[in-house]
Amino acid sequence: MKIDIGGVKPDNFVDRWPGEFEIFSHFEMALGIPHALFLITTFKENGKPNACFQSWSSFYGDCGGYYVMTPLLMHSHTYQNILRDKEFCINFIHTGYYEACYRTIFKNDEECDELAAGGFTPETASHIAVPRIKEAFMSLECRLKSEMDLSGKGKQSLVIGEVLSAAVEEEYINGAEKKYGPDGFMYYGYALKDFASGDEGERKVACLNVIRKG
Ligand SMILES: Cc1cc2nc3c(=O)[nH]c(=O)nc-3n(C[C@H](O)[C@H](O)[C@H](O)COP(=O)(O)O)c2cc1C
Repeated sequence: MKIDIGGVKPDNFVDRWPGEFEIFSHFEMALGIPHALFLITTFKENGKPNACFQSWSSFYGDCGGYYVMTPLLMHSHTYQNILRDKEFCINFIHTGYYEACYRTIFKNDEECDELAAGGFTPETASHIAVPRIKEAFMSLECRLKSEMDLSGKGKQSLVIGEVLSAAVEEEYINGAEKKYGPDGFMYYGYALKDFASGDEGERKVACLNVIRKG
């Protein structure tokens, strides 16, 4: 039997922190669709490096270009930085850096160098002024193409960036072992323990496990 979930937040889904269901749709918790995790680097207005732990994105394109589609909180520094400077860098790191990534969330003030806060090393990018992260196994240098307020409520904007250039660590360029294993892409999923109570959710961090080749 399938359980139908409608567009209206069920009453049993209650905020665990103020405004949770203003920022998130109840579908996020109810569905728990996994997404790759990464850090977005930008510059703050004062020139200090900013790092934003991010997920919920996709990467695709055609013969005219390759694009990053990422929804950003409109009150975040990252969103403001991207609108101002029109460039940003996507940095994929493995699960071993999860705690380091999380540190950048709570060291968030204007004066903070957020790369240093996470213990990351800045690396000069090839096409943008914003630094890449040396510890990342893959970085995408992006130029802002467009943005759109997703719901029209001024909460989340879908930012689309054109990938100008990518840098990939040599050991990751061939084969799947590194990319799709513990040293590769880090994933995030939000799985509810109990749909009926709606408030027993737990963040999960994962990596891929290849089950079939060819
Ligand atoms: C797995 C994951 C967990 C997150 N947890 C939090 C959190 O606990 N608190 C928070 O304010 N933002 C959280 N975020 C969102 C962003 O990382 C956060 O808005 C970001 O640090 C904003 O930084 P900025 O203002 O420098 O752009 C999380 C993001 C992801 C992908």
